[in-house]
Amino acid sequence: MILAIETSCDETAVALYSPATAALHADLVSSQIKLHLPYGGVVPELAAREHLQALPLLVGEALHTAGAKLTEVSAVAVTRGPGLKGCLLVGISFAKGLALARNLPLLGINHLEGHLFVGDLGQNGELSLTFPTLALLVSGGHTLLVLVRGVRDYEVVASTRDDAAGEAFDKIATLLGLPYPGGPALAARAAHGNAARVSLPVALPNDLSSFSFSGLKTAVRRLVDAPTFKRDEQSIADLAAAAQEAIVRALTEKTIAAANRLRPQSLLLTGGVAANARLQESLKAFAARAGIPLHLPPKRWCTDNAAMIAAAAARLWAARPQYSDGLEFDALPRWPLQDLAAAVEAADRRQPGEE
Ligand code: KG4
Ligand code: ZN
Repeated sequence: MILAIETSCDETAVALYSPATAALHADLVSSQIKLHLPYGGVVPELAAREHLQALPLLVGEALHTAGAKLTEVSAVAVTRGPGLKGCLLVGISFAKGLALARNLPLLGINHLEGHLFVGDLGQNGELSLTFPTLALLVSGGHTLLVLVRGVRDYEVVASTRDDAAGEAFDKIATLLGLPYPGGPALAARAAHGNAARVSLPVALPNDLSSFSFSGLKTAVRRLVDAPTFKRDEQSIADLAAAAQEAIVRALTEKTIAAANRLRPQSLLLTGGVAANARLQESLKAFAARAGIPLHLPPKRWCTDNAAMIAAAAARLWAARPQYSDGLEFDALPRWPLQDLAAAVEAADRRQPGEE
């Protein structure tokens, strides 16, 4: 049984997962949204302190939910990065303490790798993805198109030059005077709008390795600031629909181009923005046309959680039984997916008993 811990940002999350029986015994998330709401963003110092309070309680609750004892845990997996340093350190320190006390292998998992491998968890907890999979990972902090050949074997096909897709949704929503969080609010307005009434640019149509959303944001600002703009319900809805369409088109078109070139066995849509119905619809239509299965993790797994850290750890252990990063690794606030192979090599180089 793997005990997985995620504390990279503003959710404290703990999961207990047994790969052998495909049993997810516990999958708990404690959100700090209310704590940070008055500040309009995550305050790192407050977030770390909150993790410190919540994590031991959540681990206890997970064991209780699972009806399991600490002695049944055979490995600890923890998010090592990317994320807020102070927050990551809370999870890592706790995980190290546990691994040291119980002499357990400790796996430092990349948060983005977690977002990818949550798509691997089937309805019944089984690992179900067929590789290579082409994954579109879209959240408030990341916009990545990644070819996943297997665990720790990733090729980043496209990334953003400026804003992340979720950030674009949020910033444009703010320009339209919509409430926080902007993405879902903008999508709700867009449902009543007509995208064809507004012309907005789709950036970098010919650059298949980059996304860019800052130009779109500027174009929306110009329209909103124009003296002729009527701030009535319908105009806001039309503009919301057009902005959503521009973001969805950019994401879908580059995904299609990459899929046609790389011929993956499956497609995966993950991250907070994966909740967007229009984006889902657009990718589903392509997947059906191309005859490629599309994995759409349930909503609770698209946002931050620890089941995703457990899934990535399970894949790592399936590929490399008893893999451990030992007790000496540090948090990595910046940790690009491309750098992951190096982590495996470092673990390979370490002599047994050196940990
Ligand atoms: O992965 P996530 O929960 O958090 C981080 O990025 O840390 O993603 C949150 C992002 C926010 O930008 C939010 O506005 C966006 O996902 N989002 C959506 C929708 N639901 C959440 N964007 C567009 N349409 C949605 N339905
Ligand atoms: Zn995340």
